[in-house]
Amino acid sequence: MGKKLIAPSILSADFANMGQAVDDIATSGADWIHIDVMDGNFVPPITFGTKMVEHLRGRTALPFDVHLMTRAPENLVPAFAGAGADYITFHLEAAVHAHRVAQGIRGLGKKAGLSIVPSTPVSALTCLLPFVDLVLVMTVNPGYGGQTCITECFSKIEELVRLRQEQKLDFLVSVDGGINEETASEASAAGVDVLVTGSAFFGAADKAALVRRLRGEEA
Ligand code: DX5
Ligand code: ZN
Repeated sequence: MGKKLIAPSILSADFANMGQAVDDIATSGADWIHIDVMDGNFVPPITFGTKMVEHLRGRTALPFDVHLMTRAPENLVPAFAGAGADYITFHLEAAVHAHRVAQGIRGLGKKAGLSIVPSTPVSALTCLLPFVDLVLVMTVNPGYGGQTCITECFSKIEELVRLRQEQKLDFLVSVDGGINEETASEASAAGVDVLVTGSAFFGAADKAALVRRLRGEEA
């Protein structure tokens, strides 16, 4: 669609310095802040709650891309919307009534995102595409940063881009898991719109140069 959006994930930041992490993302020229919420149930770890999101909200005007890796996501949507999320993405595998959850997010004036883990095919969410603003293709099993990208999942990006064109829709396609310079160029070739990056971003000495390279621009 337009230029690639880069969404660094604060999961790979120093948890004792989250304000600084958000400042680093802003000064790097990246586009969104990706916030991985884990409940210790849908995935083993527990990460952030709404209070941290609310406090970080005062720190930047960049959009907050909240990725809920939680069971019963509908229970958390109002609180994260109130805390300052812009996009709220939940997992198809964690929601029985995904259409209702997406409508609920939009009803609160937020952008609704739907995510699938590597083992879930795109066909599982095809009928929901008109009701979402973003589809997040996970290229690792969710729960941890620093894993190796399952590049076989990139064909899902191509499939989503084709469905979007056929159905004249306008959702964004995002990819999350093991995204670095090399995998980003493959995902970009598949037509992705949003690149989530955790360990590659926070491990980079020159974050601004990395952001430009992930976008496919000159470093
Ligand atoms: C994993 C999270 C990702 C993670 C990505 O469950 O959803 O957003 O932070 O980290 P990297 O880029 O290191 O795979
Ligand atoms: Zn994520």
